[in-house]
Amino acid sequence: MTELPTTPEEAEAELARLAALLGEYDRAYHEQDAPIVSDAEYDAIRRRNAEIEAAFPSLIRADSPSRRIGGAPAQGFGKIRHLVPMLSLDNAFNADDFTEFADRAGRFLGLTAPITGFVAEPKIDGLSISLTYTRGQLLHAATRGDGTEGEDVTANIRTITSIPTTLPAPHPDRIEIRGEIFLSKADFLALNAAQEAAGDKVFANPRNAAAGSLRQLDPTITAQRKLRLFAYAMGDASAPVAATHWDYLEQLIAWGFTVNPLSTRLETAAEAAAFQDKIGLERAALPYDIDGVVYKINALDLQSRLGFVGRTPRWAIAWKFPAERATTTLEDILIQVGRTGALTPVAALTAVNVGGVIVTRATLHNEDEIARKDIRIGDTVILQRAGDVIPQIIGIVPERRPVDAKPFTPLTHCPVCNSLAVRPAGEVVRRCTGGLICAAQTEERLIHLASRGAFDIEGLGDKTMREFFADRLIQTPADIFHLATRESEIAAREGWGALSARNLIQAIETRRDISLARFIFGLGIRRIGEANAKLLARHYGSFTNWRAQMLNAVVIGSEARSDLGSILRIGPAIATELAEFFAEPRNVATMDALAAELRIADAEAAQASASPLSGKTIVFTGTLTTLARPEAKALAERLGAKVTDSVSKKTDLVVLGTDAGSKARKATELGVRTISEAEFQSMAETGE
Ligand code: IVH
Repeated sequence: MTELPTTPEEAEAELARLAALLGEYDRAYHEQDAPIVSDAEYDAIRRRNAEIEAAFPSLIRADSPSRRIGGAPAQGFGKIRHLVPMLSLDNAFNADDFTEFADRAGRFLGLTAPITGFVAEPKIDGLSISLTYTRGQLLHAATRGDGTEGEDVTANIRTITSIPTTLPAPHPDRIEIRGEIFLSKADFLALNAAQEAAGDKVFANPRNAAAGSLRQLDPTITAQRKLRLFAYAMGDASAPVAATHWDYLEQLIAWGFTVNPLSTRLETAAEAAAFQDKIGLERAALPYDIDGVVYKINALDLQSRLGFVGRTPRWAIAWKFPAERATTTLEDILIQVGRTGALTPVAALTAVNVGGVIVTRATLHNEDEIARKDIRIGDTVILQRAGDVIPQIIGIVPERRPVDAKPFTPLTHCPVCNSLAVRPAGEVVRRCTGGLICAAQTEERLIHLASRGAFDIEGLGDKTMREFFADRLIQTPADIFHLATRESEIAAREGWGALSARNLIQAIETRRDISLARFIFGLGIRRIGEANAKLLARHYGSFTNWRAQMLNAVVIGSEARSDLGSILRIGPAIATELAEFFAEPRNVATMDALAAELRIADAEAAQASASPLSGKTIVFTGTLTTLARPEAKALAERLGAKVTDSVSKKTDLVVLGTDAGSKARKATELGVRTISEAEFQSMAETGE
C-alpha cells in the first residue's frame, strides 16, 4: 500500500477519487450485475479510503463509501432450480386477521367449525435456504433467489458446523430441507465492530449481514461468520417423512438439525393470540431478531389439500409484530409519470431511519388520498414500515403544522411532456394524455419491455435503461435490437467495459426468439398483464393472426371485437383497451418495427401441453365427497378452467357429485360430457 497523503489537499483529492471509483464499482455490481473489479481489489480500495479517513477525520465526505451500507459483493455462483418453488407467506397483523385465516382454511376444506391444530414458530428475519440430501448426504444448498432458481452456496453451507452433512438413517432417498440462515444479535454486532475496525462495510441489520456472509465467493470468509440455521420446512421428498408438521420437526431434530426451541403446538386461534403476546414480550430479550410468529396447520394432509393461492400457502400465516414508525418532514410532493400515463404523487422526505432503513421517499398513492389525510407540504408526517413492505405515510402530526404549510394542487398538465392531464369521472387516477409523445411514458414502457416477465434482458435493468434513454442510445423498442452496432460506444461508457458491453449484446441477441405471450406482455398495454397476454397468445396462436384480428377489432361492433371480448376473463373493458392501442397508428408502427427484429414463436405448442381443463367451462353439481366445493373450484381454476353455476351449450364438462339432479339431466340433454368426482380428481392430478 502506498503511503498516506501528507497534506489535507492531497487527502481531499484522493478521497474524492476513491469515492468516485467505489461509486462506479458499486453501480457496476449492483445495477448492471457486472462487476468490474475483483472482491479483493474492491476491499483494498475501501481499506485505503478508511485509512485516509482515519488520518484526516475532518475530511470525511458526506458520500463517503465508509458510510454506505450494503450487501457483500458476491458473483459467479452457479444456479440451482428448486424442485418445489420457494414461496412466501401471507401476513396477519392482528387477531382478526388470524381468525380470518383460520376460518378461510376451514371454509376451503368444507369444515363446519374453524380449523384447529397449529404449530407456531418464531419468524426469524434471515434468509431462507434449501438443503438437498441424496442417500443421506448433503448434495447441494441453494438460496431462495427468485423463488424458482437460487444460487448454489453449497461450499459456504458446508462451513456451518451446525448443519449436518450426513443424515443418520432412516431417511428418504432424496429429501430437501428448508430453514432460515441467520446471525445472532451478538454475532451481528461483533461482526460490524470488526468490519468497522478493518475499514470494511458495516451491515444495516442482521439479515443483510447473514446474506452478505453467505453469499461470499470465498467460503473461508463465510466460515468466520458464525451463521446458524433453524430448520422449519420441507421441500421435495422421495417418500413421506411424517403425518404432521410437528412430527416432521421432531424428525429434523433426530437428523441433527436445530429447530427453534420456542416452537410449539397450539389448538385454537385464542391460543395463538396468547402465544403472540407472550413472544411479543420475550422478543427484545431473545438472542436473535424476529419480526413475528409463523403459524402452520399441523396436519400435512390438510396442508396439501389447502395448497397455495398465488405465491403463498393457505395453510400458514406470518403474524407480524406491529410495524416500526418514525416521523419526518414532507419537503415536497413530486409527480411520477408511469408507463400508462398515471400521475402518482410521491413524498420527498427529510431522510429518516425507520426500523433500520433510511427512507427519503414514500408513495402518496393519489390526490384523493392526500386530501383525505389532509397532507400538506411542510407537514410532519408519520411513516410506517412493516417488514420488507415499502414505507407508508399513515398520517400527519397536526400540532406541528407550520403556518406556511402548502396544500397540494393536482397538476392540470403532465410535468414531463406538458400534455393535458385528465382524471376521468369515477376514477382516482389522473393520467397524462401524451401517449408515446410523453418521454416519461416511453421510458417506462421501455423499462417494462426489458423486465423479467417480458423480454427479460439481463443487464438491461431500469437504471441502465434510464441512462440509455437519456443518452439516446435507446428511444424505441426496436432500438434495443440495434444496440449491437453501438457496442464500442457502450463499452466506453462510465462503469462499463468491453466484457460487460459484450454480455449485454449477447443477452439481447438471445431474446430475438421470443414467445408470443412475452411479446404481447412486453408491449405494456394497459390491463394486459402476464395472465392476459398468455390468454391472448393461446387464443390467437400467431403474431400475424393476433395483429390482424386486433386491427379488425378496432371497429366497435366488428366480429373481431366481439370475439376478443368473449375470451374468458378478457371481457369488453380490456377489449376496449386493446382496440384503443391498435387504433393509434404510431403504436402499431412502433410494434411492427420491434416485431421486424424478432422471431415470434407461435403459441400452439403451449396449448398442446396445457392441462386438459385449461380453457374449459366446468360445472360442479351434487354433493362432492372428497373435495369441498371451494377446494374443487380452486383446483379447477388453478388448471385454467372457468367454473360456472349453470349448464348450457357453452359448458364443456359437468362434474357429478352424489345426488346430482336437474343439472345432470340438462347436461345429458345438451350432450355435454359428464364425469365423476373421482374422474375429475384423476384428471387434475395426472393431467390426462
Ligand atoms: S415457512 C411457503 N417458517 O419467512 C413458505 N418461513 O415470508 C414457507 N421464515 O421466505 C415458509 N421463519 O424466509 C417459514 N418458521 C418459518 C419461518 C419462515 C422465517 C421466512 C422465510 C420465508 C419468509 C416468508
